Amino acid sequence: MKTFLKSLLCFGVVIAFGNTASAVAQDKAAQIAKGEKVYKAYCQTCHQANGQGLSTVYPPLAGSDYIKSKPKKEIIKSVVNGLKGEITVNGKKFNGVMVALPKNYTDEDAANVITYVYNTWGNPGGAVTVAEVKAVRGK
Ligand code: HEC
Repeated sequence: MKTFLKSLLCFGVVIAFGNTASAVAQDKAAQIAKGEKVYKAYCQTCHQANGQGLSTVYPPLAGSDYIKSKPKKEIIKSVVNGLKGEITVNGKKFNGVMVALPKNYTDEDAANVITYVYNTWGNPGGAVTVAEVKAVRGK
């Protein structure tokens, strides 16, 4: 009887964990899908549809060694608060200005679009939460 209860318990734990894992995967997929819309509506004007950037004016996001090498917090900060000054991305120098994300885009939009970028064009993956955006936006 005890063994039976034990195995029942194990089974329950496996199901519970399985569900959590797929819920997380689903949340991330939803974030990426929503983020793609924000990208197309806003970021694409400069960074282009394929994330390749434009000549020496707009740096690439596709396979960006800049995104890969910087802490996630830095990337969030740049996207929501803006970025200027010389940077090197994939061996090319850029010295432009990216303005702060307009206020009509919510913290959730920001989390989604950065998650989209992290999971597209060979970038390192991962996810950005609304709380992580809140912690740096406007600071
Ligand atoms: C009006 C043009 C413009 C828009 C719109 C724009 N950016 Fe940028 N972005 C730039 C420029 C210019 C730089 C380089 C700034 C510098 O030289 O310091 C940059 C740099 C970056 C970088 C760091 C460098 C790299 O290539 O890895 C990231 C990441 C980034 N942008 C993401 C985004 C995301 C995500 C959005 C949409 C939410 C966005 N940008 C919208 C112009 C833009």
